[in-house]
Amino acid sequence: MQSRGISQPMGRLTKISALVNIRKARVNEVKGQILNALRVCRGYLSGQTLSEQLGTSRVSIWKHMRSLKKDGYVIEASPRGYRLVSSPDLLLPYEFPDLEQRIHYFSQIGSTMDAARELAKKGAREGTLVIAEVQTRGRGRLSREWLSSQGGIYFTIILRPKMSPVYAPRVNLMAAIAVAATIRKAFGLKAELKWPNDVLIAGRKVCGILAEMDAEMDAVNFVNVGIGVNANNSVARFEKMATSLKDALGRKIRRKEFLCLLITEIERRQPLLMKADLLKEWKRLSATLNKEVRVMSLGEEVIGQAIDIDVTGALILKGKNGSLRSVFVGDCIHLRE
Ligand code: BTN
Repeated sequence: MQSRGISQPMGRLTKISALVNIRKARVNEVKGQILNALRVCRGYLSGQTLSEQLGTSRVSIWKHMRSLKKDGYVIEASPRGYRLVSSPDLLLPYEFPDLEQRIHYFSQIGSTMDAARELAKKGAREGTLVIAEVQTRGRGRLSREWLSSQGGIYFTIILRPKMSPVYAPRVNLMAAIAVAATIRKAFGLKAELKWPNDVLIAGRKVCGILAEMDAEMDAVNFVNVGIGVNANNSVARFEKMATSLKDALGRKIRRKEFLCLLITEIERRQPLLMKADLLKEWKRLSATLNKEVRVMSLGEEVIGQAIDIDVTGALILKGKNGSLRSVFVGDCIHLRE
């Protein structure tokens, strides 16, 4: 059993891994500072100036440059100094100066949900992010697979909302609202929500959300929210009901900027989790309400008009005979207006 509130002396391995993490964080910080300096200057910056600006040796600057080149940055080195020619389209931690301390980055992973669960169980703080370029075993809702090829945005954020587990589905609603709001703000596209937490553009799914919770009867320990956005990846031809931002816009997007904005939109809404405004915003963005829908819920098919959601995020359906029915989980299909 885990002891609570009693501080344990740090084991040798824990100490080593804490030191490795500190070192990694420092390396990322310097890489971020170098990139920032090169971007601000737009031209050549000498190793001497960089080492003075960052308070580190020229050898260390050289080593960081080598590491940045390995990561895919094209940096020209000449007698005039260093010049940043191009940056790779990767979600590397040091591209997010305000967030990098809490980012766990993987170029490839099974699922960000598994890594986030491990971290959350070890006590990772709220807002910790696990980001991957590619997932080899990406998971969708209802035990489905989530195809996660290069170009999409795949991440899990660890949240620790102070609420009863009954209200945990509101976290999904909040995440879906944040994604739709980000798409609307960044591109002016009319992103809408399909209950419980799909984000659609012109009726096609552009983002899916999977939440995993660890809770006791009366309190949530953590909710890990996994978000998969079809960004610069094209969706498979057989996925007729899916789209990507690239396909909707006819051009690639800047994934870093999109992810930064999305995290801001999520964090801005966290204090609203238990407020009526959250439900209002979901209803405003909803493509499900007022539609005739079919929901497959726990092996049962329920058909009716979607008339509302309740405080727990359940969908309220009105049957042909006027009877009301709440559905808490399931797969929702829009039939007609
Ligand atoms: C769905 O609509 O079925 C939910 C899809 C959720 C996909 C995301 S991608 C990041 C995170 N890691 C996973 O394995 N799944 C979620």
